[in-house]
Amino acid sequence: MRLSRVVGGVGIAIGAVAARDLTQKKHALMRNFPVLAHARYWLETIGPELRQYIVTSNDEERPFSRDQRSWIYASSKQENNYSGFGTDNDIEHLPGYAIIKHRTFADSLPHDHAEDTGLPSAKVLGGPRGRAKAFRPESVVNISGMSFGSMSGNAIQALNRGARIAGCMHNTGEGGLSPHHRQGGDIILQIGTAYFGCRNDDGTFSLDRLKDVVESAPVRAIEIKLSQGAKPGLGGLLPAAKVSPEISEIRGIPMGQDCASPSRHTAFTDTDSLLDFVELIAAETGVPVGIKSAVGEMGFWSDLTRLMSRRDRGVDFVTIDGGEGGTGASPRIFADSIALPFRMGFSRVYGTFAAAGLSDDVTFIGSGKLGLPDNAIVAFALGADMVSVAREAMMAVGCIQSQKCHTDRCPTGVATQDPWLAHGLDPASKGERCAQYVRTLRKELVKVSEAVGVAHPGLITPDDIDILRGDYESDSLHTAYGYEAGWGELGPELAREITELMAPGGSRPERRSSEQGEGEKPLGQDVGTIT
Ligand SMILES: Cc1cc2nc3c(=O)[nH]c(=O)nc-3n(C[C@H](O)[C@H](O)[C@H](O)COP(=O)(O)O)c2cc1C
Ligand code: SF4
Repeated sequence: MRLSRVVGGVGIAIGAVAARDLTQKKHALMRNFPVLAHARYWLETIGPELRQYIVTSNDEERPFSRDQRSWIYASSKQENNYSGFGTDNDIEHLPGYAIIKHRTFADSLPHDHAEDTGLPSAKVLGGPRGRAKAFRPESVVNISGMSFGSMSGNAIQALNRGARIAGCMHNTGEGGLSPHHRQGGDIILQIGTAYFGCRNDDGTFSLDRLKDVVESAPVRAIEIKLSQGAKPGLGGLLPAAKVSPEISEIRGIPMGQDCASPSRHTAFTDTDSLLDFVELIAAETGVPVGIKSAVGEMGFWSDLTRLMSRRDRGVDFVTIDGGEGGTGASPRIFADSIALPFRMGFSRVYGTFAAAGLSDDVTFIGSGKLGLPDNAIVAFALGADMVSVAREAMMAVGCIQSQKCHTDRCPTGVATQDPWLAHGLDPASKGERCAQYVRTLRKELVKVSEAVGVAHPGLITPDDIDILRGDYESDSLHTAYGYEAGWGELGPELAREITELMAPGGSRPERRSSEQGEGEKPLGQDVGTIT
């Protein structure tokens, strides 16, 4: 009796779905295959997860492979992040594969790195232009801009706590400084085209509001966002689904509509006025001021270096974001096809500064999957002084790469404004994980530097890396990216300073002569005895 009722109920439900499918006009598949078509839509929805867990190999998934994600997860949880049995990469036949060349003898090695003792920048940020609040960043790994809006409040809190614990900086993203950013971590305040947090009622830039914000929080630097690798030439976009009452209040925007920032700034209109803007903000706030940009046409960079060569105006840092960079939401064409990938874009911009004799005067920051040790080392060898990590930090706080950030349905509470989904993310424990991930990445960078025989990743040169062609030949990074002699390297004074900081009493990198000892300790925490 009961069974027949259940069967009857299921039959009625299926009949109702079939009737609806047959009468709707939006989906041809459903009209043609009522009920059955839902299975296809369901499979499509869980496609990323299916591919991730069942179908793909360790290195196939994109943007981050399973191997890469596993390393981030293990590192952030202080678990064993080693791999056993050797590489599963087909090294010799992969074009573009980077090989770091170790040295047998060296004498200026970093201090004992079993514990993370920090990894400062080789350059003083704002020092060359004499900014009042110039400083040497304590960590070459910092958290990249991701706004409160694209990210949940709990995720922002976790990232900022992580920054505080790991002693690194947390970039606000273009959504401005929210209460969630105030967990004690140092801040890089980003200024986007909509000037959220420092704008007048008509949407134009307000210097007074900017100064108020800078004074209200541990803001160490200001980054003017010109563009982002995943959507260059397009302003920030917060889909309507993510415009919560809190976001609406903080940003001063209406609910129920996409929040699309303008594609260009109104506070300056060309390179000349950009530099005036940089100098104004630096003079009024005292903090170093830089720009973030993806790389397309090179005219802007030629203009910038030409004007900076006069040495009366200049940016303190340049963040280059690769076209492979992440976003909360962007049109696919922008994510896929606009802006150069990191290594190509960065090397072109760096070369422009180097040719103008300005490379020691500017701190170069890279982003675009640089939260992985191998990619970060290549970036340092090309001339980066620091790396900013976004999606890797998201993974450290729980992201599983389900790629639904633009829908407000993030299952892990990282990139959503849905209170129920966001409440699953615990800022305290995830803050610890974020910190542990940053520390582990720093340790690996130190460890690789040691293998190369230098005291700091900034001392790794383009000749220390080979790029395989996939056909049994290779080019040095130097050749692959068209670098001239000395490019990608720190000037002698900077090299001496950072060597002395990392290996007090050690000799200069060029005198790499004495053999290294044994007894290296494992990188990951709590890995136990691994042989
Ligand atoms: C969810 C999300 C939100 C982002 N929001 C911003 C932003 O507000 N401003 C910005 O300059 N970049 C933003 N980005 C780009 C990152 O800061 C970073 O440049 C890019 O993702 C490359 O770093 P990654 O490969 O480590 O993720 C965002 C990225 C993600 C994934
Ligand atoms: S888990 Fe959340 S943050 Fe990560 S990719 Fe999926 S939707 Fe985006």
